[in-house]
Amino acid sequence: MALKLARRGEISPFIVMDVMRAAHERAAAGEDVLHLEVGQPGTSAPRAVLDAAKRALDGERLGYTVAVGIPPLRARIAQHYREAYGVQVDPDRIMITPGSSGGFLLSFLAAFDPGDRVALAAPGYPCYRNILSVLGNEPVLLPVGPEERFQPTPESLEAVAGPLHGLIVASPSNPTGTMLDRPALQRLIDYCAERGIRFISDEIYHGISYGQRAVSALEVSDAPVVINSFSKYFSMTGWRLGWMVLPDDLSRAIERLAQNLFISAPTLSQFAALAAFDCREELDGHVAFYARNRDLLLQELPEAGFDRLAPADGAFYVYAEVSRLTDDSEAFCRRMLAETGVAITPGVDFDPERGHRYVRFSFAGAEADVAEAAARLRRWLAA
Ligand SMILES: Cc1ncc(COP(=O)(O)O)c(C=O)c1O
Repeated sequence: MALKLARRGEISPFIVMDVMRAAHERAAAGEDVLHLEVGQPGTSAPRAVLDAAKRALDGERLGYTVAVGIPPLRARIAQHYREAYGVQVDPDRIMITPGSSGGFLLSFLAAFDPGDRVALAAPGYPCYRNILSVLGNEPVLLPVGPEERFQPTPESLEAVAGPLHGLIVASPSNPTGTMLDRPALQRLIDYCAERGIRFISDEIYHGISYGQRAVSALEVSDAPVVINSFSKYFSMTGWRLGWMVLPDDLSRAIERLAQNLFISAPTLSQFAALAAFDCREELDGHVAFYARNRDLLLQELPEAGFDRLAPADGAFYVYAEVSRLTDDSEAFCRRMLAETGVAITPGVDFDPERGHRYVRFSFAGAEADVAEAAARLRRWLAA
């Protein structure tokens, strides 16, 4: 007799990970693949982080930590808020998590009951809506475009029929890279505060911007849940480490959830990350080469035929409207990979409604790869 399978397992895939798998399979078969699909730095963790990890391997027991994370790392993150944003944060409000992904799970579980409705921009990071769905919450997609710089606005929230219990915002955003300036962030936070909507700010791309620095929700209010990670600016994706800054009403609930779900975040990574905030020079060097990759793509892509691009203010993505080239971005990306070896991500990952007309290029990889990819696409579309 067939065994029962839970409906939760029917969760949508994180399509970029499926594209990455296809790209790796082609590479393993000896083909020359250029990875512009996945949003991760091509660099390893900074030198001093690797040294701190080696010292921890030799000198620490590396058992469980308390669920909220090791005190020196929480203190170092609080210092980071003073130094980078001029904001005082009590280290007791900081919770270390297994990546920001762990932070989403914990914060959604603690803040929302099944059936609660949470708004988010479409296009946006796909796992927000997939995690919410699997938890029994209702993701409410806010269709945003170039007019709103692909970010939620009070007007887009006002247009939602029915109650809202939460709003998730990412600035810089994935996939568009657009940012909310301080007045725009203030307006959204005020709107949510007046209506009892929980504000969750994903600040994972802070540190990677090409003009203005990104503003933290904590510069505006103590009420938001702020989620961050060592994955992007700090170039530590595989170390699976992130953090949250929590409002008082959620701290203890999230600690209890973390104790039960994860016990603690990876201990070796926590010790290693202590060194991460002192590696600015090396990490800003990465941002400098992202900036060169960005310049190259913003020049080359329109010449190749991708001429409607979202403003890439931050993060390491270019989101392109491709309706002149296809109305099926998934098939288009598959063909591109097969015929050019360039892997990129179809927009349907980020926007189930309109994403078939969009694709995302990640420029976090090596400069030579990004340049070669642009040259291949030019030849491909000219053919
Ligand atoms: C906007 C955004 N948030 C969160 C994540 C997840 O990051 P991690 O779990 O590695 O911290 C990603 C990864 O691409 C992302 O783009």
